[in-house]
Amino acid sequence: MAANEDVDLSPAALHLESPDGRSFVVRGPASQRPRVGDYLELDTVGGPLAFVEEVLSDAAGAGFVASGSLVGESASASDERARWAQAPLRPTQDAAVEALLSGSDPRLHLGHLVDHAEVGVALIPKRLNRHTFWCGQSGSGKTYALGVLLERILLTTRLPMVVFDPNSDFVRLGEMSPGADPESVAALADRDIVVLRPGDERSPLHVLFKEMTPRARAAVLRLDPVVDRAEYNALLGLMADLDAVDTPDIVGHLHSLGDPDATALAQRLQNLGVLEWKTTWAYGAESATAVIDRRPAATVLDLGGYDRNEEQLTVTLAVLDDLWARRAERRPLLLVIDEAHNLCPPDPETPLGVAVRDRLIQIAAEGRKYGLWLLLSTQRPSKVHPGIVSQCDNLTLMRMNSRDDLDQLSAIFGFVPRGLLAQAARFRQGEALVGGGFVPMPSIVRVRGRVTPEGGIDVPVPMP
Ligand SMILES: Nc1ncnc2c1ncn2[C@@H]1O[C@H](COP(=O)(O)OP(=O)(O)O)[C@@H](O)[C@H]1O
Ligand SMILES: [Mg+2]
Repeated sequence: MAANEDVDLSPAALHLESPDGRSFVVRGPASQRPRVGDYLELDTVGGPLAFVEEVLSDAAGAGFVASGSLVGESASASDERARWAQAPLRPTQDAAVEALLSGSDPRLHLGHLVDHAEVGVALIPKRLNRHTFWCGQSGSGKTYALGVLLERILLTTRLPMVVFDPNSDFVRLGEMSPGADPESVAALADRDIVVLRPGDERSPLHVLFKEMTPRARAAVLRLDPVVDRAEYNALLGLMADLDAVDTPDIVGHLHSLGDPDATALAQRLQNLGVLEWKTTWAYGAESATAVIDRRPAATVLDLGGYDRNEEQLTVTLAVLDDLWARRAERRPLLLVIDEAHNLCPPDPETPLGVAVRDRLIQIAAEGRKYGLWLLLSTQRPSKVHPGIVSQCDNLTLMRMNSRDDLDQLSAIFGFVPRGLLAQAARFRQGEALVGGGFVPMPSIVRVRGRVTPEGGIDVPVPMP
């Protein structure tokens, strides 16, 4: 016998066991240890794929035990189960995984599998009809990747979006990067992308004080209904009266009434300088709410263009309140909120902050049936109100070191295997775990390139 016949250098044939036709276990030597997120292919025609969700060392420490779910069309065909009691595995072909993940339209690919560069992972746009949570530490590539998603939505759907943009990162969503492919350039050129910026002459971001709800106006004036009973009450009583007065004339009008509470209100307006927020108020011109009501493909609200946090909150509140007031129209809209902890933290400090957060909690809880869908991006799950995070059914997770944060996400997003979430500590920039209905399977992707430029970078110097 030749010496080398003693040693079998080919990989051991692995067999998978599936007692229930849904989950599986496979054991093997350490040299063939699969990774969480891998797909194993059953050596049967048209059989399911085995999606690896957990990999442990076996008791002796010499091999592995991998477990997970059987996926694919035939995974639920019960008469097939017997065949998988001891099913042999064969090397996985990209084609089998592609059939599961890639869909038919490559334009929908958010990126490709980190471990299989040939396999694109497709967005399922109709499943954007729920809320999406987007999380990852600073610098992980959230804003870039969010831009990739928004571009894909603009290119392949008719779902309109409003982008609350606190860092002016999306103000160039209507432009094209130099290297963008001609097909995307042509398709995006057809879309109506409106960027509203504070103080912009042609496309200003501002709202009407008059159109704001009583509660919102009181919040702008930092009035508490209990602590500031008299003034709050005066405001309510004067609401119709104020509607008839132009914004710049409000203070004079209040003084002229000769009523002590109206005078107090006038003083408050003056002291807070609210009416001097020149780029916040539309003073009779068209409000951002009216622009959004026309449903451009995308309306970017450049909140980063304001000096004051109160101005950002005021404009946001006016927009959210208006959308909520019109909810019965059931006109779909994706509300994209980058740095969402600014707008819906657990404990806002001001009445304006509370009003914005409460409206977002309401939209998170009830907005779906009215076609108001949230897409919230933030660094840490605990920085967004739990009543909002818990309403999200789609998750994108980018690099995240914190064990506590990962545990928290794991508790909320039970549909994403823990083993996959744990990988996030080692993600590189631009790598993301996507899970939930908006993708075929929980997958770790490297996001594709942008076709529109990121804001804030290479902004051309305005020339006369
Ligand atoms: N996938 C990517 N490809 C190329 N550059 C990226 C990618 N993701 C992020 N960057 C760059 O890294 C920096 C930080 O990314 P950003 O999306 O702003 O992170 P975050 O929003 O998580 O803080 C930006 O300058 C961005 O251009
Ligand atoms: Mg960012």
